Amino acid sequence: MIDLNHHLNIASRSRHPSPLKKIIQFMAMNDMVSLAGGLPHPSLFPLHTSTITASSPCTKHQVKLDLSAGKAENPFASFLQYGSGAGNAQLRQWCRDFTQHVHRPLCESFDILLHPGNTNAWSKVVNLLCERGEYILCEEFTYPSAQACWIPLGNYAAPVAMDAQGIRDDSLESTLAGWELNHPGIQRPHVLYLVSVGSNPTGVTMGVERRRKIYEICVRYDIIIVEDDPYFFLQFPEYELNPKTINDTSTSNKQFLASLAPSFLQIDYQGRVIRLESFSKTLAPGLRLGYFIAHPFFIQRLLLATEVETQDPSGLSQAVVLSLLQTWGMDGYLTWLRNLRHEYQARRDWMIRAFQHEFTLVPGSQHPDLDVADSTLVAVLDAVPIFSFVPPTGGMFIWAQFHLHANPTFQKMRKDQSLEDPEECFAEYFWEMLVEERVLLTPGSYYHPWQGKDKVTIQARGAKPAVTNFRISFSMTTREEMERGIARLAKVVRASWEL
Ligand SMILES: Cc1ncc(COP(=O)(O)O)c(C=O)c1O
Repeated sequence: MIDLNHHLNIASRSRHPSPLKKIIQFMAMNDMVSLAGGLPHPSLFPLHTSTITASSPCTKHQVKLDLSAGKAENPFASFLQYGSGAGNAQLRQWCRDFTQHVHRPLCESFDILLHPGNTNAWSKVVNLLCERGEYILCEEFTYPSAQACWIPLGNYAAPVAMDAQGIRDDSLESTLAGWELNHPGIQRPHVLYLVSVGSNPTGVTMGVERRRKIYEICVRYDIIIVEDDPYFFLQFPEYELNPKTINDTSTSNKQFLASLAPSFLQIDYQGRVIRLESFSKTLAPGLRLGYFIAHPFFIQRLLLATEVETQDPSGLSQAVVLSLLQTWGMDGYLTWLRNLRHEYQARRDWMIRAFQHEFTLVPGSQHPDLDVADSTLVAVLDAVPIFSFVPPTGGMFIWAQFHLHANPTFQKMRKDQSLEDPEECFAEYFWEMLVEERVLLTPGSYYHPWQGKDKVTIQARGAKPAVTNFRISFSMTTREEMERGIARLAKVVRASWEL
């Protein structure tokens, strides 16, 4: 571990331990009569026992979780009481063992801290590392809630160009090498925010070689990597346009783990990776539970903030998740994740097949004029390329780039001198047509990183001319709904492109 102290912002350097949390340890001492705490008496908790029915990871049978049974040292009431801030010790240990088994961190010295989901975890990291006015390195298209957190804090995005593997190392290098020249007087960014598996919105996953290159650049320029990775276990093999192989669901947990792109933890030899894990996409988002994995240096400071901001995540959620994981065991949880991956992979395939039903899908190489990555597929209607996308290798989303050259309405908008942002005007008009037809996509403009008030139009924020993006999610709908939705999309395309 190298000295990373200079990465902390003034607020986190000035934090003191919460005095209330300090005294809690003394309450547990043998024979202590505590007249100190403001804890409610457990006999006055109105909740006594709780039984939850859960799925079994391997069979169709259900398992019963008795939260009141627990282990001797963890009766149900202890989950209802104030905790330490770091979260339940047994659950933390479970997460630690799981991390060791799955990610095999290169830095042996790492700690776990529970948090109430990655949204809050990222906000804690921004408040740990960033000062007002600083730029944060992020993907060219980034998760909107992540930037909605830093915009009011006076931070800006420094977007890094992407391809089908996520952010490009050459683009990261040139952004950093040219920083002083292009941003005189502004401090070079020292934080990289990444969704490197099944990125939201682009669906792309970063392979190991790219990770190594990105990591080495971060070492050279002294950058902290924040890996927001809720989709880690939802990694799929590449989509086959004309499938030759039968989708094999009979892999073992070992093969499943070996098939996953590694976390940056496996590459990090300096303790400069802060990883955000969430149970939202693997169990349920309403649990509001996840955990940080980072060097103890960062975990200690994050704990100080946790103690006075959120305290422990909900005790009930911790009780449910601990009980579920203990009942399933690590192998059972991995089986659950392996099956989950197949479920989402099937949904991705249904969505692309629905595209194939309404459009002709061809490899991007057949449309060199579109300047798209090799693995891109182009959806064509009556010989007109309408949209292109890289079939996702993880996550829940397809990032569709609509090509507007041949669209008559866009051509008119482009000629209209009064329109400052014709691509965005077209996107709004097209989105309204879709809503009228009762099919809802997420506008791509949400994902263009915020770079300050002088860069408001989509093009000023880095978009290519004559294209507009929409995010299409394949997680929530049935196959029939997907087919209906894509048929409606095709109908709107025909009307708008006048085909
Ligand atoms: C990249 C990314 N980070 C974080 C979240 C939210 O995670 P959580 O539910 O753990 O707050 C999402 C959810 O959509 C996401 O896509």
